[in-house]
Order: sequence, then structure tokens, then C-alpha cells
Amino acid sequence: MIENAETLVKQINHGVYVIGVGVGERQNAFTAAWVMQVSFDPLLLAISINPEHYSYQLMKESGVCTVNVLGREQYALAEHFGRSAPDKMAGFQWQQAETGAPVLSESLAYFDCQVSHYTDAGDHKIAVCKVVAAATLNQGRPLLYSQTGDMDGSSELYG
Ligand SMILES: Cc1cc2nc3c(=O)[nH]c(=O)nc-3n(C[C@H](O)[C@H](O)[C@H](O)COP(=O)(O)O)c2cc1C
Repeated sequence: MIENAETLVKQINHGVYVIGVGVGERQNAFTAAWVMQVSFDPLLLAISINPEHYSYQLMKESGVCTVNVLGREQYALAEHFGRSAPDKMAGFQWQQAETGAPVLSESLAYFDCQVSHYTDAGDHKIAVCKVVAAATLNQGRPLLYSQTGDMDGSSELYG
């Protein structure tokens, strides 16, 4: 039994990202904190994704995604993309990355990725992604996962 797991894990630092998935008509975006660099060359990022998310289907289908870095003032964006809703992308400005995946124009920076492979990780899947392009879009300091409190409702999810 691990007491206060939800508080303790917030001491492991993460940023907060909007992951853009899919191409063409079938696109979506969701908030993720469990994102990390896992290789220099090739430059690889690992994204931990719940396979029950609609976004997971689109990621599997398209094999591409973007990682969009949220800034300190973009708390409301993290909340918006952290919930399932129809037409979640409407009302925001998107660009198309080289892979065809959506880039959130108001993010601080983006990484355009091709999914290389998936690995099982308990109740999540790890998508190991090769970065094929990346750029800074806006200046600012990144939002931290520890600043989002229980926005993701994770305090209920520990065994
Ligand atoms: C701050 C925050 C961090 C989150 N981190 C992750 C994450 O790392 N991986 C994940 O699969 N879901 C994460 N979520 C949950 C998803 O964003 C949420 O379930 C979303 O509804 C999934 O989108 P979809 O249902 O449109 O596919 C996080 C949510 C929030 C608010």
C-alpha cells in the first residue's frame, strides 16, 4: 500500500502538453503530462496514453501525432483538452505539421512525430515517437503538471 501516492508522484516533474492526433478529417487533441524524451539520436519521445481514449484509436490509425507545449497561462487549455467532448478542436487555431497531424498555434513549441512502436505499461500504453520536425511558436514559461492540482481526477485512480 502506498499512502498519498497522488501527492508523492506530483514531485516527479512533468510539463503539460496537448497531443494532436490523426490526419485529415479524423483528428483530435488531448492533454497529457506523461511525456518524456527517451533518446538523443534518433530524437525519441515517449507518450503514455490510456488505450481507452478516443485519441488512442486515432493515433493507432494514423501513426502520427504532435506534442504541443502549454505555457503557464494556458491552464484553461489543459482543462479543455483534458476532457472527452465532441468537436474539441473547434474554436482554436491549428496548423498542419509535416506528418499531417494538428499543431496548436498558441502553444509554446511543438514536436511533430511518427509513432515508432507501442509498449504495454499497466493501464496505459507507451507510444515511442520519432520526432521528425519541431519549432518554437511563442515565448513563455511552460506549465507544470504539479500546478494542475487534481484537474485530471487522478487522485481516484491509484490502487
Ligand atoms: C493535466 C492532465 C494530464 C493528463 N495526462 C494524461 C496522460 O499523460 N496520458 C493520458 O492518456 N491521459 C492524460 N490525461 C487525460 C486525458 O487528457 C483525457 O482523458 C482526455 O479526455 C482524453 O481525450 P479523448 O477522450 O478526447 O481522447 C490528462 C488530463 C489532464 C487534465
